[in-house]
Amino acid sequence: MKKKLIIANWKLNGNKLSILNFLNQLNKYDYKEKKEKCKIVMSFPVIYLYLAKTIIYKKNIFLGAQNVDLNLCGPFTGEISVNMLKDIGINYVILGHSERRKYHKENDALIAKKFKIVKEANLIPILCVGENKEEKKLGKTQEVCARQLNSVISMWGPQIFNDTIIAYEPIWAIGSGETATPCSVQKIHKFIKEYIKEYDIANSEKITVQYGGSVDENNVTQLLYEADIDGVLVGGASLNYNKFKKIIDIVNSL
Ligand code: 13P
Repeated sequence: MKKKLIIANWKLNGNKLSILNFLNQLNKYDYKEKKEKCKIVMSFPVIYLYLAKTIIYKKNIFLGAQNVDLNLCGPFTGEISVNMLKDIGINYVILGHSERRKYHKENDALIAKKFKIVKEANLIPILCVGENKEEKKLGKTQEVCARQLNSVISMWGPQIFNDTIIAYEPIWAIGSGETATPCSVQKIHKFIKEYIKEYDIANSEKITVQYGGSVDENNVTQLLYEADIDGVLVGGASLNYNKFKKIIDIVNSL
């Protein structure tokens, strides 16, 4: 069975102490049956990633950034490049999170360009897609996700999605305590996989589709029973080690 991927997005939270405490516990996590069925990606604020890298020694824990710049070097004050992330051993980069689209005005075209830069650097992009409340009401979920996928496909061709991750994160479910039903998530994940398959049958198997939006220890089991939910992207519930550990325990016991 393919290992489930659990990604923790800490957003603008944490400090040296809380991250060290969290990682010290995560390093010691030992599943009783010894067969861990998940891969974990911790996306701390970028300033703490190097520290985190020096602490982690468990093989199934990786690190992710929450954003990256388009440029590789030069006069771009305040930015971080893919080369810098690679330099400190980061493997994943979240792109196009709805909070970046909303607060930093990132649009589909910019996100598609970043996707290519990340892929070219041999890092793994995690592309966030998903509809807002209004679009959900109007029944436009598939249309919105297709548009967001298309912005990447039309710029770079479908093969760019090989070995990448797509995170379906309905905006209305983020931080709201309102999770999308497992059945509706399954439907849209299947749609995403088939949409890419339509363009690129050979490589569609290599895509991982995650769900994010108020995932916690109480709803993760039902979500992961669905065939096309390959993992979860956890925000709020990943900040508390005990809650996060419960999610890992559940995935390992599936
Ligand atoms: P919550 O789990 O807090 O809803 O956040 C989800 C998210 O935005 C992960 O990227």
